[in-house]
Amino acid sequence: MEPTNHPITAKAHTNIALVKYWGKKDEQLIIPQNSSLSLTLDEFYTETSVAFDDTLTTDTVQFDDHLLSAQASQKITTFLDVVRELAGITTRANVITHNHVPTAAGLASSASGFAALAGAASRAAGLTLNRRDLSRLARRGSGSATRSIYGGFAAWQMGEDDQTSYAYPIAEQVDWDIVAIALVLTTAQKKVSSRDGMRLAVNTSPFYPTWVQSSQADFKTIETAIASRDFETLGHTSEQNAMRMHALTLSSDPSFSYFNADSLKAMALIRELRAAGTACYFTMDAGPNIKILCQGQDAPTVMSQFQQVFGPESVVLTRPGNGIQISD
Ligand code: PMV
Repeated sequence: MEPTNHPITAKAHTNIALVKYWGKKDEQLIIPQNSSLSLTLDEFYTETSVAFDDTLTTDTVQFDDHLLSAQASQKITTFLDVVRELAGITTRANVITHNHVPTAAGLASSASGFAALAGAASRAAGLTLNRRDLSRLARRGSGSATRSIYGGFAAWQMGEDDQTSYAYPIAEQVDWDIVAIALVLTTAQKKVSSRDGMRLAVNTSPFYPTWVQSSQADFKTIETAIASRDFETLGHTSEQNAMRMHALTLSSDPSFSYFNADSLKAMALIRELRAAGTACYFTMDAGPNIKILCQGQDAPTVMSQFQQVFGPESVVLTRPGNGIQISD
């Protein structure tokens, strides 16, 4: 395989899991214990350029205009090693990446980040991967990145090994008016990485086996809700699934939580709005920020409530986003 002689750029969007991935069967290959399902979001994305260059002695990574130290770029170098092995090359690379996402605050920057890196690096290394294989490659960087190859609703089938654990599209063009309102409560880095949190849940939460079973049922329920455009079932099941994932952190030993006081305040407000008749639901990943699922017609009401409480800059309206784009 011959690397390209010019940089390749890829753009990938984040996704919000409606059925969460929480726990690995294989830590090395990132094979999950349960299948997951997500919605790709248009507002948050990563753009990454990669060029393999014979004159380099190490990989260099420029992240939002800062040159990363070797230590900070270790995860990227480890990922590039996977790409190099696939392509049969040893050449080092220049990586330039821009994140249009608050990094590591539970807005899934690792999803868009590793999806974009997988797309740019594989093409720059001379590989032409189909989207399934691209999703398998992205998985090696971060589990949630597996799903960010596709637009709209996507699923990651857990599989049992590297070949069978990949994402596939469920409905890339979302023809109903579903929106996700991101509530950015903090951009601080999370205290417990998803990797550590998952490991702790698998090893110590007595609820873990129940999670694996119930998330499987949630997957089927949401798949059916998407097919029948049943927003309330989709929203309700996503919220339940998120809370069950967070119950794993609370029931781990030692226990911990990604909630902060504002997350709890936001959840209470969503329950109030719902009790007053607005169909809105929340979900939350490995950080305190909340995503509110609602239909476009209700977005102005929901947004104005949250803008009043948390400030206008904290509330970002997102819609279903596109899959990965790779350009020379
Ligand atoms: O891909 P990771 O290691 O950042 O883990 C993602 C974990 C969650 O965001 C909480 C759930 C998910 O499926 O995206």
